[in-house]
Amino acid sequence: MQNYILEMKNIHKIYSVNNVTALKNATLKLEKGKVHALVGENGAGKTTLMKILYGIEKMDSGEIMLRGKDVKIDNAKTAFELGIGMVHQHFKLIDDFNIAENISLGIEKKNKYGMIEFKKIQNEISDLSCKSGLDLDPCTKVGDLSIGEKQKVEILRTLYRGAEIIILDEPTSVLTEQEIQRLFNTIKMLKNQGKTIIFISHKLEEVKKISDQITVLRNGETVFTGDTARTNIEEISRLMVGENITFEKLKCTDKKGENIFSIDELYVKDMEDQYFKVKGISLNIKAGEIVGLAGVDGNGQKELIRAITGLSKIEKGSVFLNKKNISDYSTRMRREAGMSYIPKDRVMEGSSPESNILENEISTKYFKDDVSKNGWINREKSLDLTKFLIKEYDIKTPGINIMVGMLSGGNIQKVVISRELSSEPELLIACEPTWGLDIRSQKFVYDQLEKIRNEGKSIFLISGNLDEIMYLSDRILVIFDGEIVKNFDNHDDLTKMEIGKYMMGLHIEEKPEKECDNRCTESTD
Ligand SMILES: Nc1ncnc2c1ncn2[C@@H]1O[C@H](COP(=O)(O)OP(=O)(O)OP(=O)(O)O)[C@@H](O)[C@H]1O
Ligand SMILES: [Mg+2]
Repeated sequence: MQNYILEMKNIHKIYSVNNVTALKNATLKLEKGKVHALVGENGAGKTTLMKILYGIEKMDSGEIMLRGKDVKIDNAKTAFELGIGMVHQHFKLIDDFNIAENISLGIEKKNKYGMIEFKKIQNEISDLSCKSGLDLDPCTKVGDLSIGEKQKVEILRTLYRGAEIIILDEPTSVLTEQEIQRLFNTIKMLKNQGKTIIFISHKLEEVKKISDQITVLRNGETVFTGDTARTNIEEISRLMVGENITFEKLKCTDKKGENIFSIDELYVKDMEDQYFKVKGISLNIKAGEIVGLAGVDGNGQKELIRAITGLSKIEKGSVFLNKKNISDYSTRMRREAGMSYIPKDRVMEGSSPESNILENEISTKYFKDDVSKNGWINREKSLDLTKFLIKEYDIKTPGINIMVGMLSGGNIQKVVISRELSSEPELLIACEPTWGLDIRSQKFVYDQLEKIRNEGKSIFLISGNLDEIMYLSDRILVIFDGEIVKNFDNHDDLTKMEIGKYMMGLHIEEKPEKECDNRCTESTD
């Protein structure tokens, strides 16, 4: 008989707030030292199953056996004591604390006088960081980190607390190609150290590449478990959604119209207002054109988008929409001028998790005739619109009055996308539009973007996923160190390698590898 490090058997879970059956008879069996992928459509129950394992959701019935023994996991503290750690789909870090403070929060080591031993903690974290290939400086403030780096902090936190089983809930959905490669190296290193990894992803190529075993959940039920090497992507996809979905690169159109959107010599500073992150960017997007922006995270994309959408100050330069200079417009005025925006962070920026679906859907159009009159919201029209969008975008929810924060990650993203596309924008700024979406929903979003492009709308697509950029864009711009360093027509011979060269700045010079030495130079003892 096979010896499993962990067995979850016949797990049932109904969320009583909305009466949703999230899991029925779900089963998961893990072998020690293996990477086990957990896949399934948006809302299939993956996160719920992991939250139960991590002790932050209660199951209604079922059994968990760890190293052959029955265990009861009522909270995250117990989970940690049992050697289970989780990196959540939406990170749980405090931006104002540094890395060491975030990692040691709640388990700070104290000396005999009861004082926290910061220096010791920092050095331990620094050593662990090097050993696990995560390469982080424990003194850096978390608010200054990119999403990829924040994820590393989360992984390091589980390791620091002694995790033997590490749950990674959609770890790659927010990462760039380069960061994904680094994460995979880390996963391999952890596996070699005997750790067991649960890897959740919607990207089946990744699952195939990194996992040893795979479990497929469908509507809360386990429908398949087996060795990854013995299956193929088509089979997994069929098991997940009941059909085989494939993508073909969008055909470029030559029906492009006039310039709809232009940026002229734009300069924007970083969030602390200290130095320039956008250094004289100019670009144009025509009607009926999708322009993709490729770049390694942290090269000015965030600041550029914030300035375009009116969330950050422009130091110098101008932004034009439909020939109007909108540089001084508020965010609402920009919306009224025809701009829509799908932000990268669907929870912090893209939605109001504590408001219901209807409130979220109308939050960008409550002032328009579609849903209001003379300053009063028309309840009936708002309801009709929300019902239509839930159906059209296949948002899985038991009702309209459900708080958006209670939806699964992918379904929150669908609320954001449906809200932005239904505003019928002239220009859509789309940051990571398929972040966390399953293949069927991803295909749906691609079809929608193609449709609005063919109707003559302009799309500025910012994505860390080069496949997505290459699949959708008519033209690809590469941003490096705050400047647009290359403009590619997206012809069939263009390769990822070619784009990657500009993304990494290798067109300028080869940079030497940094040595791994993260010890703090200053003590905060
Ligand atoms: N806190 C909650 N309260 C109520 N219902 C919830 C809650 N969290 C999840 N659900 C519901 O349970 C079902 C399973 O959600 P879960 O988040 O586990 O799915 P998932 O497989 O992780 O999906 P995704 O790929 O979109 O992240 C969904 O229908 C979701 O709406
Ligand atoms: Mg999830």
